[in-house]
Amino acid sequence: MKHLLKLADLSREEILTILNLADQLKYERSHGIRKEYLKGKKLGMIFQKSSTRTRVSFEAGMYELGGYALFLSNRDLQIGRGEPVEDTARVLSRYLDGIMIRTFAQKEVEDLAKYGSIPVINGLTDYCHPCQVLADLMTIREKKGAFKGLKMCFIGDGNNMANSLMVGAVKTGMAFSIACPAGYEPDAQLVAWAKENGSFTMTTDVCEAARDADVVYTDVWASMGQEEEKAKRERAFAGYQVNEAVMRAARPDAMVLHCLPAHRGEEITADVFEAHADEIFEEAENRLHAQKAVLCKLMQ
Ligand code: CP
Ligand code: NVA
Repeated sequence: MKHLLKLADLSREEILTILNLADQLKYERSHGIRKEYLKGKKLGMIFQKSSTRTRVSFEAGMYELGGYALFLSNRDLQIGRGEPVEDTARVLSRYLDGIMIRTFAQKEVEDLAKYGSIPVINGLTDYCHPCQVLADLMTIREKKGAFKGLKMCFIGDGNNMANSLMVGAVKTGMAFSIACPAGYEPDAQLVAWAKENGSFTMTTDVCEAARDADVVYTDVWASMGQEEEKAKRERAFAGYQVNEAVMRAARPDAMVLHCLPAHRGEEITADVFEAHADEIFEEAENRLHAQKAVLCKLMQ
């Protein structure tokens, strides 16, 4: 494993190895054991979009591992003024030991890896969000013990989260169902892959998707970069909400996950959110542990 560009690049074994190391790092941190696995290593963090969790968990994670993280906003970098990614990649490779990037086009992340000579980590693109899904898988395994036999359902937009979650579910052996409005399906190639390699269903009926689900997942109706479509999306997604009716269709012990930030009253009701807040914030915490594991795998 040289980079983390998308979850589909990782084998089931590589995913499980990261999750096992993440569990170990979480244990060590909670017992005051501090090991500087990345002593003196430097991570550049390029942000072309906003972030709370990704930025802070990577920065805190590098600090805890004995390394250093540089926050590089596109407002300050020459990349924001049009310097080609090929050149940025070759320059940063001479200063740093790794790059994390959050941006729009998946191709930009792939190009950074192609032209640079250091590990690249995808911190979210319009296409996928692999770091988030590693934390999600960690949270599911913590709570449910194993993946086999579980059903995960996703209610809402077939966006970057849906794309990564379906890959994560198939790779770990969970059944995956998605309810989304027509025209807002996940990536067609990933849908074909998921159908061929796992148990995958897609419907426009939220309760059908949620039936007997062990994990209920949702995300915002309008992602970063889609602000202008907000009103149109509010109409398209009306009813695509994790609420009491959806939770009644799911298993009684179903967990609810949300990558955050959440919009209460849109994709999830305030009641369901608060009833499952412990799971959702454990999931947010697990970003730190899962990413520290990724950093160790790539940069040690
Ligand atoms: N879930 C997530 O990636 O959050 P941020 O946008 O705050 O990084
Ligand atoms: N789909 C959301 C996820 C945020 C973590 C977005 O891209 O804005």
